[in-house]
Amino acid sequence: MPTSQPSVLVVDDEADLRELIADSLSGDGFDTTQAADGGKAIACLKTFAFDAIVVDLRLPDTDGMEVLDFALTRYPEVVAIVMTGFGGVTEAVTAIKRGAVDFLIKPFQITQLSRVLKSELERRRLRQENAELRVQLRDRFGFDAVIGQSAPMQRLFATLELIAPMNSTVLIQGETGTGKELIARTIHHNSPRADQRFVAFSAAAIPEALAEAELFGHTRGAFTGAIANRVGRFEMAHRGTLFIDEVGLMSPALQAKLLRALQEREFERVGESRPIKFDARVITASNTDLKKMVKEGTFREDLFYRLNVIPLTLPPLRDRPEDVPLLARHFVQKSCRNNNLQPKSLSQEVCRCLMNFSWPGNIRQLENALEHAVAMTGAEREIPASSLPPELTELSGSMLLPAVRIPDEGINFTSVVSQLERDLILGCLEKTGGNKRQAARLLQLSRTTLIDKLHRLTLNERVSAA
Ligand SMILES: Nc1ncnc2c1ncn2[C@@H]1O[C@H](COP(=O)(O)OP(=O)(O)OP(=O)(O)O)[C@@H](O)[C@H]1O
Ligand SMILES: [Mg+2]
Repeated sequence: MPTSQPSVLVVDDEADLRELIADSLSGDGFDTTQAADGGKAIACLKTFAFDAIVVDLRLPDTDGMEVLDFALTRYPEVVAIVMTGFGGVTEAVTAIKRGAVDFLIKPFQITQLSRVLKSELERRRLRQENAELRVQLRDRFGFDAVIGQSAPMQRLFATLELIAPMNSTVLIQGETGTGKELIARTIHHNSPRADQRFVAFSAAAIPEALAEAELFGHTRGAFTGAIANRVGRFEMAHRGTLFIDEVGLMSPALQAKLLRALQEREFERVGESRPIKFDARVITASNTDLKKMVKEGTFREDLFYRLNVIPLTLPPLRDRPEDVPLLARHFVQKSCRNNNLQPKSLSQEVCRCLMNFSWPGNIRQLENALEHAVAMTGAEREIPASSLPPELTELSGSMLLPAVRIPDEGINFTSVVSQLERDLILGCLEKTGGNKRQAARLLQLSRTTLIDKLHRLTLNERVSAA
């Protein structure tokens, strides 16, 4: 429902008719303004963006066409209707060519004008809404929505740009939560099929007995419980993209049917023998290694090659820690926005905890952890480590340590570890003013262990000094 009345500028030099139109449109829910000639009309248009303009083509000072042109140049979205007397049809047609949506030949019924205005304004509203939705989709599934500056992600973006416009089948592999579905949607929304449907099917979510009917559809009475004809996912995805998730979980029978459909580019509904042709781009995903399944004999080799035309492997988050702070900030802001909170920042300690964690649930786990942290932080502007889920901070050691970077030439494990031991022991002794019992307690060591370690460290130092 529009929140305010639509505004209409009525331009006509015949005062009686102009007032009649204005009154009756006002009574019909429009907010009307009147102008008696072209000069006044242009002055009104300069100060206000009307939703619609109704203009007589014969005006005393200027040509009505000039007013029309001025309105459409300044406000390309304005709904413009022209009025003309008997015999003015040629002019009216010219007006339509220049962008008016309709014309009325005098005399006409005012209700007719009101009807045309309402339907054209509704059309304009739908068009704008559609354009906004498209922009929102582009924001959600444009390449920008996929975050990552690490080398493997940059390589992925380059590949995506190449393959999105094509029709080739894509196989996306990666651990749980690495973004397989997000990438599948991104490919679809950056392909020529973007205006058509993206239909998802998960072999994990549907009991095996129903999976075939779900994927290919069924006829009425095809099996017990099939009370009506049903369109399957393949048909729904016609001209669009079909995303088959967890393809590794398909039964051997379903694997065979999928292979046939992909080879023949046609399939049959369950309970019917009439083949149906389809034109859908197929993207599949798996978080188990399909090649390994082929070797083990649990996945058809021929199907694997059909699906693996363009393989994409999404790296686990632990292999690209440099993306963690970027993703973390993105999820914090997203969660703040969704909850109408002021933006929050991450304390350095939080960043360190996030980078040191191994993220078995990958990006999904990171997203959930930060939503938890935002909720636990309340009104504070900086998220403290204490707001993180406990599993992230339980490894209290990691909170003290910077993220470990292994240089290409490797490290000397023994010397790095003894350096760390030395720093921890000396740090605690410093903190306790040299009190070994208290220092041992801080380190959760027995006093004798601490003393023993101290001896070894000083001994080592003497050896290396010598
Ligand atoms: N690179 C990324 N940038 C921003 N958000 C991401 C990225 N990758 C994944 N996400 C987000 O992480 C969540 C999990 O991603 P998605 O569902 O695509 O993972 P998945 O690999 O399909 O997981 P599963 O195997 O468990 O089905 C989603 O909310 C997704 O939007
Ligand atoms: Mg998924």
